[in-house]
Amino acid sequence: MAVNRSVIRGVGAYLPKRVMTNDDMAKIVDTTNDWIVERTGITQRHIAGDDELTSDLGIAAARQALIRAGIDPVDIDLVICATATPDRTFPATAVKIQHGLGITKGAAFDVQAVCSGFVYALTIADSFLKSGQFKRAIVVGAETFSRILDWTDRGTCVLFGDGAGAVVLEAQPQHGTREDRGILSTAIRSDGRYEELLYVDGGPGSTKTVGHLRMNGREVFRHAVQKIYGVIEETLVTTGYAPDEIDLYVPHQANKRILDGIAKKLGVGPEKIMVTLDRHGNTSAASIPLALNQAFEAHRVKEGSLVLMEAMGGGFTWGAVLARW
Ligand code: ACO
Repeated sequence: MAVNRSVIRGVGAYLPKRVMTNDDMAKIVDTTNDWIVERTGITQRHIAGDDELTSDLGIAAARQALIRAGIDPVDIDLVICATATPDRTFPATAVKIQHGLGITKGAAFDVQAVCSGFVYALTIADSFLKSGQFKRAIVVGAETFSRILDWTDRGTCVLFGDGAGAVVLEAQPQHGTREDRGILSTAIRSDGRYEELLYVDGGPGSTKTVGHLRMNGREVFRHAVQKIYGVIEETLVTTGYAPDEIDLYVPHQANKRILDGIAKKLGVGPEKIMVTLDRHGNTSAASIPLALNQAFEAHRVKEGSLVLMEAMGGGFTWGAVLARW
């Protein structure tokens, strides 16, 4: 049966120029390169310039994705930006990205699911494209987390960084089988019982301030592997693929130990897991498209590759998307 599938036509990314190494961190808080590398796998992160906004990062990533897709921005009718660090409380950063790309038709809006934002945004875009409401979408994950960090809290400030990534999706008729190109299966979940384990202690509707990120790292860690494994399993069961049939897992880049834990539970080798967090830390909603971009540039994904993206973040929110490149 013919169906519309959301096919990934292009991927792009942008990292701010300024690099902050673990040794730079040790000059600000009581930490060491060894501690950060051993507990997280992170060696450096990028920090946005004072004049760089989340939308600027997103526009740069989207432009690269459009060029690689060979698609003119005027042919895009949907822009979704996953971010927890919007330029302003409103309007949506996606509308600024839409404007920056010179697009004046269709719709643009933000998705707030923190580190799971990109997986949520892909799932939403996929629903619109499958239903025929829109034809071509840009899905952006863009963050300037450096602006919501407590730079005196060594337990959190060493983990995060700034960046953006984007994919261009196009609705294409396919056969309706698991051999199709495009997004094959999605699963998104949330559970507000865990709000106090990972949150920002401010907001326009409560403190009227932006606030800072607060996290109980050990507890977040405890939930991450189990919850992420659950949604990965769901997308695999829906399509009938076994874990080792996936060509590349492109996870949210939070902590190397979380990625190792998931790989172990799935029974797959490290060669199947894309790891880029060493170079940019946890960039929240931007981390999956940043890793996807690296995978593309390193020729680790090509037409026909089965790619599984997954994430967990504040809320808690979590989810997975299985797609054939
Ligand atoms: N440098 C040196 N010491 C530190 C640092 C630091 N940067 N941060 C914490 N410590 C100390 C603590 O103070 C503590 O000292 P104490 O024993 O004297 O009290 C000790 O290290 C151990 O602290 P823990 O928090 O228990 O360390 P843990 O092994 O759990 O590692 C970490 C902390 C890296 C945050 C880990 O819990 C983690 O990665 N959790 C997952 C959280 C995460 O990735 N969140 C991202 C958002 S959600 C997501 O994206 C999935």
